[in-house]
Amino acid sequence: MTNTISIGIHDLSLATTQFVLPHTELAGHNGTDVDKYHLGIGQRSMSVPAADEDIVTLAAAAAAPIISRHGTDQIRTVLLATESSVDQAKAAGVYVHSLLGLPSAARVVELKQACYGATAALQMAIGLVHRDPSQRVLVIASDVSKYDLDSPGEATQGAAAVAMLISADPAVVRIDDPSGLFTADVMDFWRPNYRDTALVDGPESVNAYLQAVEGAWKDYTEQGGHALGDFSAFCYHQPFTKMAHKAHRHLLNTCSQDTDADAVGRALQHTTDYNAVIGNSYTASVYLALASLLDHADDLTGKTIAFLSYGSGSVAEFFAGSVVPGYRTHLRTASHREAIDSRRPITYSEYRKLHEHSFPADGGDHPVPEETSGPYRLVSLTGHKRIYEALRHP
Ligand code: HMG
Repeated sequence: MTNTISIGIHDLSLATTQFVLPHTELAGHNGTDVDKYHLGIGQRSMSVPAADEDIVTLAAAAAAPIISRHGTDQIRTVLLATESSVDQAKAAGVYVHSLLGLPSAARVVELKQACYGATAALQMAIGLVHRDPSQRVLVIASDVSKYDLDSPGEATQGAAAVAMLISADPAVVRIDDPSGLFTADVMDFWRPNYRDTALVDGPESVNAYLQAVEGAWKDYTEQGGHALGDFSAFCYHQPFTKMAHKAHRHLLNTCSQDTDADAVGRALQHTTDYNAVIGNSYTASVYLALASLLDHADDLTGKTIAFLSYGSGSVAEFFAGSVVPGYRTHLRTASHREAIDSRRPITYSEYRKLHEHSFPADGGDHPVPEETSGPYRLVSLTGHKRIYEALRHP
């Protein structure tokens, strides 16, 4: 159940925001019992972007360490997946390509299907490397999750980017065939072009996710995939970490297996650590789960990991990866922890101000206050153009 040549994740790096809102602050504002957040949905805090951070700065910050380690020579394709795009025409990856100093002999494109987009990018990257194994593809998942203030979705916001270098003979995780696929036309979560914040039918979205888990798994088994017992860990898309528990319980139920909390907890162990403190990072979420697992679990060499990627609307994919011998020397655990731990906690009123920030649409010169300590920042919106700068290369 492998590609004819071994292709997968050669390097993986994450970035998140300058600020963090603890759920205790949100609960203090809206009078919710904080246990609903900590235990009910499994979230402790959520990343909040500074005014001069967005999906471009996060994506560049995630990818820069990969470029400094591996160089740019073999990268001829950049695939950036997002559902919080900054432009309806220009791909955000073109800004990232420029900030990173990638060669002009490259193709850059943006992909969208809610939180699933990065998995489409990963599979396309594998196809490209298969065609020419000397090439590498930079895949970046970058998102800012934003719901209306005082809505049920508000507690499930967050922001992060995960960059992955996809290559032949990968050093970290080989991605295996087959994939189990599922698509259904549902209105569980969506964001019309005229809105900054997503619309969601909460209960419907949870139900649609569970139906997609079942559908993708059914197709995976029909395609000749692994048996459930072959997997050492399960990385799920995590809008909130309790969703991974619901999803895995549903999968075990579908397979007529024991669904006790210990069995679910063991399968998910270490996959929810980053998501619980970052929040929903949409396209990046399932790959944050992988980063969290690799960074925290005991030696996983040779182990098979399951991935369930879900994007509302809806599309899902179930697939497997095998952890490559020697992977631990390629991890970025310390810098991942640093990115998360160095966020500055903010008060509810600071968060609210950032949430309400938007640019006038008048084409004027609108400089952005310098807030981020990250390597890249949005300097201004000038004449309807977003101006970015590199403060430093990590
Ligand atoms: P809600 O109405 O605020 O919360 O909505 P609730 O009343 O359903 O409670 C949530 C859980 O907390 C429940 O547990 C309660 O019992 C428990 P459950 O029944 O689910 O096991 N609870 C407590 N536990 C301990 N102590 C307490 C307490 N009080 C309650 N005191 C909802 C929650 C997630 C629906 C809402 O936050 C929401 O709409 N979020 C956004 C949508 C979402 O994340 N959907 C997930 C599936 S869709 C998806 O994953 C795709 C997505 O990422 C987008 C994309 O693909 O692009 C969203």
